[in-house]
Amino acid sequence: MRLFSSTVGRKNLMALSGQALIAFVVMHLLGNFTVYSGALNSYAERLHSLPLLVWSFRLIMLAALTLHVFYGAIITLENRAAKPQAYAVTKTQKATFASKNMIWTGSAIAAFLLYHLIQFTFSGVPGRDLFSRPDVFGMVVQGFSSLPVVLVYVASITALFYHLSHGIQSSFQTLGLNSEAAMPFIMKSAVIISLVLFGGYSSIPLFILLGAVR
Ligand code: HEM
Repeated sequence: MRLFSSTVGRKNLMALSGQALIAFVVMHLLGNFTVYSGALNSYAERLHSLPLLVWSFRLIMLAALTLHVFYGAIITLENRAAKPQAYAVTKTQKATFASKNMIWTGSAIAAFLLYHLIQFTFSGVPGRDLFSRPDVFGMVVQGFSSLPVVLVYVASITALFYHLSHGIQSSFQTLGLNSEAAMPFIMKSAVIISLVLFGGYSSIPLFILLGAVR
């Protein structure tokens, strides 16, 4: 199979890069949960003390993101030119809101990611905590003390929910990891995983805005 030039090869690349990005989203949420235990600053400091690991991981994620966005756009354009409505939806599946809007929810996530990186990563951590560590916790609490910012996060995480609820099961189909018997289980699991990620990610800005985390 020609991985980069055939349609099947490109869909496999999209599925694999999508699964790598899901692994990141799960790990990032687990790391972010340290906001609740008060361990966010020590977690961030520990991560930043391992630059080789962090940079290898960033490069792999950047490659996955680039492949996913690039081929996502190409496959959507090719599908539109060929027939009106066809993002990895097979005859056995009904088109849903999520499956029909993958390009739009994906674009919303990309725009959010840019905003998020400018807000928390590119601008650097502004202050230090009592132990002279970069005060990532303070930066996050400060960031989510604004209602418009929290609304942008919740809206973007909603887009992530829709994108993953279709994307997870679609990636299993593309990679041929779906038997007739396993499909209902895969579809249910995709929605449950997406819901857990939605609840986990949106809880952080909402609890901070409501003053439950400070
Ligand atoms: C409540 C939601 C979120 C919080 C509180 C949060 C928090 C953070 C923080 C504090 C950083 C900077 C870490 C540091 O410099 O030490 C960061 C980086 C990042 N976040 Fe998030 N994040 C959230 C949601 C998301 C989502 C939904 C995605 C993906 C769709 C995402 C993707 C990233 C990426 C790619 C980075 C850069 C990682 C790196 O520097 O290697 N984040 N996030």
